Amino acid sequence: MAADRGIAVVTGASTGIGYELARCCAAEGYDLLIAADEKAIVQAAEDFRPYAVKVDALEADLATEEGVGMLYDAIGGRPVDLLLANAGRGLGHAFLDQDFDDIRQVIGTNVTGTVLLIHRVGQDMRARNRGRILLTGSIAGFMPGSFQAVYNATKAFIDSFAWALRNELKDTNVTVTCLMPGPTDTAFFERADMMDTKVGADDGGKEDPAKVARLGFEAMMKGEAGVISGFSNKIQAAMAHLLPASLLAEQHRRMAAPGTAPD
Ligand SMILES: NC(=O)c1ccc[n+]([C@@H]2O[C@H](COP(=O)([O-])OP(=O)(O)OC[C@H]3O[C@@H](n4cnc5c(N)ncnc54)[C@H](OP(=O)(O)O)[C@@H]3O)[C@@H](O)[C@H]2O)c1
Repeated sequence: MAADRGIAVVTGASTGIGYELARCCAAEGYDLLIAADEKAIVQAAEDFRPYAVKVDALEADLATEEGVGMLYDAIGGRPVDLLLANAGRGLGHAFLDQDFDDIRQVIGTNVTGTVLLIHRVGQDMRARNRGRILLTGSIAGFMPGSFQAVYNATKAFIDSFAWALRNELKDTNVTVTCLMPGPTDTAFFERADMMDTKVGADDGGKEDPAKVARLGFEAMMKGEAGVISGFSNKIQAAMAHLLPASLLAEQHRRMAAPGTAPD
């Protein structure tokens, strides 16, 4: 490993896509700082030790300024070569039926905490003129998410933000890549209370998180702008640019409204 090589910071690395992203970094020999909100992050760190990289795990609520500050402090001035801002959560049901604390947590994790972390680490990367940033957006960002309205809006923010930040940094050696998965086989839908929906229940149709993470990792390492995982998701994303928003919202209702899961 090069002596001046920086670490990889991966958020939401305890499960799902983030866990697999962290595995990709470890397999490439990066020392890791991984973070999530719950204790499972400690077990994840144990899983990565066989790769003989140094692994630090942090339990912090990245929806809060305090949690992001704890993560930044845990970096401890070490150069960050890779920042994988992946932590995120969904939230099903009709907007007016959702608990506002849950809504705040979704916006805090997916948007505010993500942007704050990138603001801090990004400044260090720019000063060092080196670094790669991967954001986990979503194809959900291309369509109004009836019955997951706040979540889709947060991903529209992330997808757009990633393109803009990439452009702002184009004259530097800091790259920004957006990974835009479609439905992926993780705990995401269960945590979002969407197992009675068509999209949540569709086990066979979801993508493998390891495959999705590998695509994102490779795109980041090549410095590409963005990657949509899976053929049908690419078609869906292309159609989203052509169809009226009202039709997209209606389509989303059919897969995300409670009770749409097949019997
Ligand atoms: N699964 C899909 O269909 C899909 C599709 C497109 C995009 N995505 C995006 O992919 C990313 C990863 O999701 P996933 O599917 O892998 O789901 P997941 O298995 O539920 O993983 C989510 C990760 O984010 C962490 N996290 C959530 N809230 C956090 C907080 N406030 N502070 C710190 N960590 C937090 C979780 O840790 P704790 O358990 O400790 O909270 C977990 O490690 C998310 O940004 C999601 O929006 C998912």
